[in-house]
Amino acid sequence: MEIEFVAADAPLAPRTAVARVVFEGQAQEGALARAVAASRFTGAKGQTLDVLAPEGGGDRLVLVGAGKSEAFDALAAEHAGASAYNAVKLSGLETLRVELPGASPEIATRAALGVRLACYRFDKYRTKEAAEKKPSVVKTQVTAADADAALAAFPPLAALADAVSFTRDLVSEPANILYPAEFARRVKELERLGLEIEVLGEPEMAALGMGSLLGVGQGSIRESQLVVMRWNGASDPNAQPVAFVGKGVCFDTGGISIKPADGMEDMKWDMGGAGAVTGLMHVLAGRKAKVNAIGILGLVENMPDGNAQRPGDVVTSMSGQTIEVINTDAEGRLVLADALWYCQDRFKPRFMVDLATLTGAIIISLGNDYAGCFSNNDELANNLLDASGKEGEPLWRLPLPEAYNKQIESPIADLKNTGGRPAGSITAALFLQKFVNGLPWAHLDIASTAWKKGSTVPTLPEGATGYGVRLLNRMVQDRYEG
Ligand code: BES
Ligand code: MN
Ligand code: ZN
Repeated sequence: MEIEFVAADAPLAPRTAVARVVFEGQAQEGALARAVAASRFTGAKGQTLDVLAPEGGGDRLVLVGAGKSEAFDALAAEHAGASAYNAVKLSGLETLRVELPGASPEIATRAALGVRLACYRFDKYRTKEAAEKKPSVVKTQVTAADADAALAAFPPLAALADAVSFTRDLVSEPANILYPAEFARRVKELERLGLEIEVLGEPEMAALGMGSLLGVGQGSIRESQLVVMRWNGASDPNAQPVAFVGKGVCFDTGGISIKPADGMEDMKWDMGGAGAVTGLMHVLAGRKAKVNAIGILGLVENMPDGNAQRPGDVVTSMSGQTIEVINTDAEGRLVLADALWYCQDRFKPRFMVDLATLTGAIIISLGNDYAGCFSNNDELANNLLDASGKEGEPLWRLPLPEAYNKQIESPIADLKNTGGRPAGSITAALFLQKFVNGLPWAHLDIASTAWKKGSTVPTLPEGATGYGVRLLNRMVQDRYEG
């Protein structure tokens, strides 16, 4: 999608659909007032009204409801841009003009970001899609009070849109294409953005004592990988880094504790945490963020096999703690145990945030809009929640009660990897906490938000959402740069 910023009176190109952002109760004139009166359009958020061949220019006019004018902020502008695109994407016209009267650079650029996020599609495997089902809009012009200032302000948001698309591509890929080594290869290509990338294979991880992560991948013919990404953008090259760790289970069958067949295909998304961490590093490099950041991915495939680990096996993690593997389907925490320990041991970061499609229970707790946040540090948790609100990636904090540690005590090892049904997301987080060595840490359980079926958010097409990239980028930008 090509994005331009133009003055409100810039001439319209041929074959343009004009989307006029309208507030609730805003009066229209002439034929347009009659069109509104003949419909149920009120300007409420998310509403659209299509007017073909309107008087006064453009081939099509769409009124896009933006809600109350007092509540119109950057996020609302983004949703308005996305709704405008969604309303005309299949119109057959090639250009979209988003009319935002008097828009500041912030409002105009966020509307453009909304278009970029909404127009994402994963269509590389479609060979026979009918032309009329393909989006026709290839260029968007957003009106701004000062078009040059808007253009100058846009690059960081364009970098963000690129990064979210990169994450969505990774998460959408099927597991026969995107297995650990292929994931690592695609990350390695991000060296072109200035990231430093290291890839550890199974021998290197074995030498480090990562028995917990390696046990998970042991039943797969695909080699497990640990990817380390580094972005050194801080003015002080030795500034202590911030660190992000992602669960990258390229496919989760459950292993010997195998999952039911119904819906198992969804487990190709089980690398959503690793996808988000990759996208975050992509945007930090893309916008040259003034921060030192580490991104670590634990990439495995969880398969049943003659060599797979068994329920009851005891593995030794890099931390030295032993784990009784009660259920081989609780594999994400086993991967993160070693990835988190490695991260704090090697990089001594200011904090670690891990992202993981960790538990089905988080969907039971929070439904499909909110991700769960767990943290041993109030400041970090509050920074995450604040960024979540600003970027429209909903997050809800849950507790880490000391007493629930009882649920993950093992009769024969230091820990066991499941805590039973009560508070399943919490006991999973408590398990992870054993591997952070007291560092400020937060865990985001994104099993509920990494992908959407039947999305109702205009910036989220159905499928992979890229959840987390925006939230973490915003937190770094607001709190940890300089
Ligand atoms: N990848 C799943 C969690 C998941 C479930 C993500 C549904 C998205 C949708 C994870 O590895 C898993 O299988 N967790 C188990 C843990 C249980 C065995 C303690 C779960 O949630 O059932
Ligand atoms: Mn599992
Ligand atoms: Zn999993």
